[in-house]
Amino acid sequence: MRILVTGGAGFIGSNFVRMLASERPGWSIRVLDKLTYAGRRDNLADLESSGRLEFRVGDICDPAASGSAVDGCDVVVNFAAETHVDRSIDDPAAFVRTDVEGVRTLLEAFRASGGRLFLQISTDEVYGSVETGRSSEDDPLAPRSPYSASKAGGELLAMSFFHTWGVPVVVTRASNNYGPYQYPEKLVPLFVTNCFEGLPLPLYGDGLNRRDWLYVEDHCRALLAVVERATPGRIYNIGAGEEHTNLEVTGTILELTGADRSLVRMIDDRPGHDRRYALDISRISFDLGWSPSIRFEEGMARTVEWYRSNRAWWEEIKSGRFREYYMAMYADRLAAGKSVEADL
Ligand code: NAD
Ligand code: DAU
Repeated sequence: MRILVTGGAGFIGSNFVRMLASERPGWSIRVLDKLTYAGRRDNLADLESSGRLEFRVGDICDPAASGSAVDGCDVVVNFAAETHVDRSIDDPAAFVRTDVEGVRTLLEAFRASGGRLFLQISTDEVYGSVETGRSSEDDPLAPRSPYSASKAGGELLAMSFFHTWGVPVVVTRASNNYGPYQYPEKLVPLFVTNCFEGLPLPLYGDGLNRRDWLYVEDHCRALLAVVERATPGRIYNIGAGEEHTNLEVTGTILELTGADRSLVRMIDDRPGHDRRYALDISRISFDLGWSPSIRFEEGMARTVEWYRSNRAWWEEIKSGRFREYYMAMYADRLAAGKSVEADL
């Protein structure tokens, strides 16, 4: 098996590559990554230096880079994307470029190569905000942020290659991941590292938005099952059934880090903030026999421990250009923020 993992230097991609490297010793692994602000080659440095993988720096929007990376691969797993909703509100163009046009470019390269499977990693955000019940794969798409609209465009294009030319495509839609190597712009790593630094925790709106929290290792195991056993043309939801409000997540982080609740600041909301996502995962359970195995409390304990033991990893990120992003995103809102009233 020769597998190309695009976006392999990012959070989920690097966890997936690590799982492949240890659990599929016979597979040959190639990574293609543009190394944007979110990608870190260091995340895979040990595997690269031991010769366990081939690392290529390149952009999926570049036909030459995509073409040569796909060449000779049986399977392509496309994690490469702009991924942060708040950034998509500031700069939608970068999202359309990679998450739509980049997917098209990679699909064209894959179609020409005649590979066995193209797995497009999508998101539960394509269903839009779901006030009650759970989204099934056949539900209509209703994305509401530039990020989720771009991801919907990317996965629709991928399925169009299946319907039009019979290109063997599978799409997965996962819920909110958390775990090691997550860039500290996202809720969990931002709040965990801010607790360690004694910095405020900027909670948007009333803190009652709900997400389904999926430990990254569970997600990667589901993706491995998809790569090995899924039928082309299928779409699979991947969630943990661990629905928690942002206030609850914050309470868990405070407890595990031992930080004080006075750090919490209720700040102005994200524009168009989706209230809730929730997934029905019956299809992947029945078809592929996958179910999540790591409960929220266990996954969060492991995550906090990883950030505690890998301080150099996140301190380097937070001391670089992240600071400018953080100030632009939070300084004014934090200055006008309020302390938390509710119990955590
Ligand atoms: P991430 O931001 O941590 O990593 C993205 C990676 O893609 C980085 O290494 C970056 O350098 C690379 N990249 C960006 N643009 C590229 C381009 N044009 N060409 C090549 N490489 C490029 O993202 P993540 O959280 O690991 O998410 C991975 C995938 O999973 C994304 O497609 C995302 O939409 C999807 N997803 C994420 C979550 C989540 O909770 N994090 C949930 C569901 C789905
Ligand atoms: O649902 C899957 C999606 O989950 C992925 O497709 C995205 O790539 C990923 O970024 C994530 O999107 P969210 O917007 O849900 O994740 P984020 O960590 O940015 O926010 C989680 C919740 O926490 C959300 O309700 C917004 C809130 N939040 C976030 C940040 C960064 C805050 O209250 N304060 C913050 O500072």
